Amino acid sequence: MSTPHLKARVAILISGRGSNMEAIAKAARGTDFPAKVALVLSNRPDAEGLKRAEKLGIKTAVLDHTQFTTREAFDGALHQVLLQEEIDFICLAGFMRLLTPGFVASWEGRIMNIHPSLLPSYKGLNAIEQAIEAGAKITGCTVHAVTADMDSGPIIGQCAVPVLAGDTPETLAKRIQAAEHRLYPQALWLVLSGQHLPAEEDEQLISF
Ligand code: GAR
Repeated sequence: MSTPHLKARVAILISGRGSNMEAIAKAARGTDFPAKVALVLSNRPDAEGLKRAEKLGIKTAVLDHTQFTTREAFDGALHQVLLQEEIDFICLAGFMRLLTPGFVASWEGRIMNIHPSLLPSYKGLNAIEQAIEAGAKITGCTVHAVTADMDSGPIIGQCAVPVLAGDTPETLAKRIQAAEHRLYPQALWLVLSGQHLPAEEDEQLISF
């Protein structure tokens, strides 16, 4: 009899819809996938993704950021919840909060994010609008390791998406999100199979 494969316990942090969370959770149902989604946590009590997670039978938690007076206090509480749930790895998926350098240092090498552009282009908010305004013909999405500087950690995987004539932020977002839903589970699988995030000098790239 073979020993059952030990799956990493992953927490997915969200602030809204949770479609990337759902894509990861569905991929993680596979017996060969090296992760189990152990927790979905939102900083917004009304996040649609919480309901999606409940439907998928995943444990959820809310840490309402408006109840904390400092970023340090919020991140300290977040850290405690993640320890309590014995979390090995964090995926940020539409988690619209900056994390403090102290929190990021505690989880270094065990935290990744998805961003709706081909980084290093169009960092920060409204990345999709930024691409349209810049007249870009190609944009996309990036999964990267999280470091203290926003949207700047080593790139794990990217997927290019064309900007078509007449695209609005909504039509382009739809195309980018379809790519995100393929890219994020693959990137997580890649990282967990290697047991570490790639260092700057040996970045791995997924493209399709
Ligand atoms: C995704 O498109 C993700 O790339 C973006 O938020 C969306 C969340 O969608 N993240 C950022 O803009 C981070 N700067 P989802 O809640 O349906 O997964």
